[in-house]
Amino acid sequence: MEKHRSSIAAAPATRSPGRRTYLMCRPAYYAVEYAINPWMDTTAPVDATLACAQWEALVDAYTLLGHEVVTIEPEPGLPDMVYSANGAFVVDGIAYGASFRYPERRPEADAHEKWYRTSGWTFAEPEFINEGEGDFTYLPGRELILAGWGFRTDARAHAEAADVFGRPVVSLRLVDPRYYHLDTALAPLDDERIAYYPEAFAPGSRLLLERLFPDAVIADAEDAAGFGLNFVSDGRSVVINAEATGFAKKLRDAGYETVPVDLSELKKGGGSVKCCTAELRQ
Ligand code: ARG
Repeated sequence: MEKHRSSIAAAPATRSPGRRTYLMCRPAYYAVEYAINPWMDTTAPVDATLACAQWEALVDAYTLLGHEVVTIEPEPGLPDMVYSANGAFVVDGIAYGASFRYPERRPEADAHEKWYRTSGWTFAEPEFINEGEGDFTYLPGRELILAGWGFRTDARAHAEAADVFGRPVVSLRLVDPRYYHLDTALAPLDDERIAYYPEAFAPGSRLLLERLFPDAVIADAEDAAGFGLNFVSDGRSVVINAEATGFAKKLRDAGYETVPVDLSELKKGGGSVKCCTAELRQ
């Protein structure tokens, strides 16, 4: 079986570029004040004004693609709140709440809970540590939830999510601290197909991914380091960190359109396009 087909052009099997709804949080209080992942350097300067402008450009990219962006109010003292993907994981109109690993980010969970509850979503309170869509994603065409563990999310939260959603959850173990959330190493391209960086996963998880997704687009070390896997795809257009030029080319060769957005400032916190975007699935 041919496993690595990243360079072979093929039309995506499933495309559903319908209108998506994304929850985002303006980086009004963004800074690198603590270091909880290897990308964060508290001594390196961050241009807060540029971060806001880059974030605005991401909002504009989604809007131009026809998607809806809703926002949660940023809170002072929560510099990582811009990474709204971590606040919950939403499928079937149910928001499974986050419970953060590090104390610095814990209050974000309350802010998100309040937002989801007052915005009409069914809210499921978590018992176990999990960082929302940072470590969970959903493939509607396969009716599968993919979930990461190893650095942030407790593997017991995977069973909890299966229980909350009544859907199968595939557990994948992350082993490279630079790719501490699933969404830094793997992302859905459309309803059935994914892209991922194999080296970020434990051997058993790699085998599992090869078995489940023989048509995946495979990323290399450079693609991953440019946050190329931290993209948001609507099934046709892939919004991707501008630095990941090589990976964007692989995605175009695989039949997708790419929309580069420069998020250099937000990378200093260890996040990019996907981290700043929570998909709200009805
Ligand atoms: N500084 C944040 C943290 O380490 C970055 C979160 C990135 N978000 C994501 N969905 N990967 O928690």
